Amino acid sequence: MQNINVKIDNALNKIGQEAVKEMLPEVLAAKAHLVNGDAAGNDFLGWVDLPENIDQTMLRSLKADVARLTAKSKVMVVIGIGGSYLGARMVIEALQSEFAAMDNSDKPYIVYAGHTLSEDYYAQLLKVLDRVDYSVTVISKSGTTTEPAVAFRIVKAHLVEKYGSDEATKRIVAITDARRGALHDIAVQEGYPMYVIPDNVGGRFSVLTPVGLLPIAMAGYDIDALLQGARDMRKLCIESDDVAENPALLYAALRNILYRKGRKVEMLVNFLPNLKYISEWWKQLYGESEGKDRKGILPHSLSFTTDLHSMGQYVQDGERLMFETFISVDQPATSVAIPADEQNLDGINYLLGKSLNEINHNAELGTMIAHRGGGVPVLKIAVPKVDEYTLGQLIYFFEFACGVSGYTLGVNPFDQPGVEAYKKNMFILLGKPGYEGQQLV
Ligand code: PA5
Repeated sequence: MQNINVKIDNALNKIGQEAVKEMLPEVLAAKAHLVNGDAAGNDFLGWVDLPENIDQTMLRSLKADVARLTAKSKVMVVIGIGGSYLGARMVIEALQSEFAAMDNSDKPYIVYAGHTLSEDYYAQLLKVLDRVDYSVTVISKSGTTTEPAVAFRIVKAHLVEKYGSDEATKRIVAITDARRGALHDIAVQEGYPMYVIPDNVGGRFSVLTPVGLLPIAMAGYDIDALLQGARDMRKLCIESDDVAENPALLYAALRNILYRKGRKVEMLVNFLPNLKYISEWWKQLYGESEGKDRKGILPHSLSFTTDLHSMGQYVQDGERLMFETFISVDQPATSVAIPADEQNLDGINYLLGKSLNEINHNAELGTMIAHRGGGVPVLKIAVPKVDEYTLGQLIYFFEFACGVSGYTLGVNPFDQPGVEAYKKNMFILLGKPGYEGQQLV
């Protein structure tokens, strides 16, 4: 197996092996909480063994539904918000062409809904759905979240109008709680195929449940390879207590060391635009898990070299609040040659004979050295290439490191009480029954 690994250059970023050694007992204690389930949040640890415990009967049925819907859909609308869509989107966007919407592929193109309340977004979506064959996956663990409920009502009405109610029912799959919630009740009443989000898996840790697996399979990607990558990384994360071998322990230790040294912002950095949603998923995973009790590293992200031309100045020379974590991908999936030009008016003939990947890697190395020189500690997560297997590893690595890091920080990484405040205010402002006379918070 080709492992991802977290590397640290002690000479340049000054963290040092000693600091890691000092942090190790705390990090190992945090890891033990995850493995033994003996700390706050232990009712949400189902994700730890998920890749091992995957239900094969469920997987077979999921693949059969995917095949059935693929045969009659050019587009799949995935409705969900937060943990109910970011994981699938991260994997799909990492693997598909940046121009997939314009490719005339025989695979369904995935579009997203339920993650916004923008009126224009839905008007534009419905216009597209008028002219393509499509189906719908609606995902909500609680089954009561406003954004996906609104989106589902709008899209379902369009689907019924387009195909009639019998065929509409055959084009919808629901992913929700096994027993409770409005979406559960609707799915039972209407007879939609239904997949379950286990009680003990929180939304942001649910990408390896049907929440992520169904849309990823629908987009044509290999969910068995994804799960195998997660399984192999799980073994490493669970079995090894050695920071030189277990990247999740090292990453959790380094983040906490840097946080205690006053680095309150972590910027996840990549040099490949198709990794943007890895950053979006990671921001939710770490932000929602650690940002509580007035603690937590603020997760931020940048896409280079693009953002070097907008945020590079601040990173190099602004307030020293941050550290950077580079996701560094060794091999691209495809290649493009730079054409020769005898005149060389643009002055870039010196690049001939180099691949774009080599040029991009030199930009990456040059950036790391420059930012370290400017006083920004730099971590590097090295990934051999982007495919289903390495993405499975990356997912499990980030999840496990998040649990270890959150417990090391001294918070419960598996709740999200702060998310409720905006909902309460919105319900009061909209006059939702039950919220009459309540004060805005
Ligand atoms: O991680 C979480 O728990 C949240 O981001 C949820 O995934 C998000 O709020 C959506 O909730 P639900 O799936 O219940 O609609």
